[in-house]
Amino acid sequence: MPTFNTIAEIKGVEKPDEYVILSAHFDSWDGGQGTTDNGTGTLVMMEAMRVLKKFYPKPKRTIMVGHWGSEEQGLNGSRAFVEDFPTIVENTQAVFNQDNGTGRVVNISGQGFLNSYDYLSDWLSAVPKDVSKHIETDFPGNPGSGGTDHASFVAAGVPAFNLSALDWAYWNYTWHTNLDTYDKIVFDDLKNNVIGSIHAGWKGAMAGIIENTIKKYAVVGHPIEHSKSPQIHQSFADEFGMQLIYERIDIALGTFSKQVIAMKKEGYFGLNVTIPYKRDAFKICNQLSEKSKLTESVNTISFNGEDFIGDSTDGVGLVKDLIAKKVTLRDCSILLLGAGGAANGVMYDLIAQKPKKLHIFNRTYDKAKLMQKKWEILAKNNNVNITALEFLGLDNTNYDLVINATSSGLVEGAMPMASEYFIPETMYYDMTYGFETPFMKASKAKGAKTFDGMGMLIEQAAESFFIWHKLKPNTTNTFKIL
Ligand code: ATR
Repeated sequence: MPTFNTIAEIKGVEKPDEYVILSAHFDSWDGGQGTTDNGTGTLVMMEAMRVLKKFYPKPKRTIMVGHWGSEEQGLNGSRAFVEDFPTIVENTQAVFNQDNGTGRVVNISGQGFLNSYDYLSDWLSAVPKDVSKHIETDFPGNPGSGGTDHASFVAAGVPAFNLSALDWAYWNYTWHTNLDTYDKIVFDDLKNNVIGSIHAGWKGAMAGIIENTIKKYAVVGHPIEHSKSPQIHQSFADEFGMQLIYERIDIALGTFSKQVIAMKKEGYFGLNVTIPYKRDAFKICNQLSEKSKLTESVNTISFNGEDFIGDSTDGVGLVKDLIAKKVTLRDCSILLLGAGGAANGVMYDLIAQKPKKLHIFNRTYDKAKLMQKKWEILAKNNNVNITALEFLGLDNTNYDLVINATSSGLVEGAMPMASEYFIPETMYYDMTYGFETPFMKASKAKGAKTFDGMGMLIEQAAESFFIWHKLKPNTTNTFKIL
């Protein structure tokens, strides 16, 4: 026995190939007239379309109404539609399905779509209070697995929602019986539903596309194989039951901007940037946080529309880790080794902690001097004595904390400061992680407190995660995993 779907549409003006679908089913079991299952659903959607056509004849996207045949025998009509029209399905913004009974809509579930809260709430905000006050929502909810036609769309990944109605004795009285007749219609409730459907359809047709795709991020650098950022971000995401893709991508020297622009086009939502591209990342961003402007370094890029938004979370990462390690930074004396990107990248946050002294020592003195000049004003405003040292000596290495921000750890046997200057009373922090550097070995040999950069790495990742997802992960769990 062939069955049929009855489809109509109001063509979108701006994006005719994108759709919002109003949905109900036309068939019923033999017995009564099939009024509440589902004459009332199709009646609501037809009336919604009539009003939409009359008052909003030029929607941005196409509004389609689908009256599916053979719902009762296994969602055959809607399933066939999903199979037969993959292009429409791919470009469907939302489906609103009305099935059970004649009652007013009282419940909408987010069907497991993580971002459904934002969109449905926005759409419902346009529905008059008298109608929306009856509607409870459930986010993110569970995906419908059958029962009525929205499930055919949910199975194909389309954000499809069922407008669950008040029962009015539907389940135990009219449903699939010969009592399902015209006299059971509660017209006031149906009018409510028409108004709700009009607004949902209209808002859906006008609003942004619902995001049902898993967001994609990556860390980029050269070399990059060693990076632990993918594990860290995955473990943060697991904590919130969130799905995301986080990749590790090597960018060949000289191709940074080209690659990053391509990744934005490919749909990445954000990037972490590591050696040697933090300055290139700073240059490519058109919106910069205050900190990245001063440090001229970006380790977190967010793509938003046409914008490349840059931030630097390394400094907060270092400071948070030091605080977690119970290091008091206020009024303490710090020696910072190095005057490259890594050292500059943490200056803003170190100064903001108001240490008494912040001395800089670098293999190339001129670079340390330049760095001092660059940070002088901020240091002065925070009462921090900032000095670039030309030489180190036994009499001037008595600091509370020495931080190694040089890349000397990557050079076999290289030391950023002679081993005789290490003393047991000082704490030594190396931003390098993953192996023991000569700097760490020398400080351990003196019996001094020694830390590597793993904590900083995790904390800076947590800050990036917060920038992208507005969620603060628990970093102690991540330590255990790594
Ligand atoms: P990063 O982004 O890792 O900071 P960078 O901007 O190239 O990379 O800076 C590297 C820093 O490590 C510099 O301060 C560098 O000293 P110079 O300014 O004299 O080049 C320092 N560095 C690199 N190798 C070193 C080594 N073997 N001994 C001491 N300092 C070293």
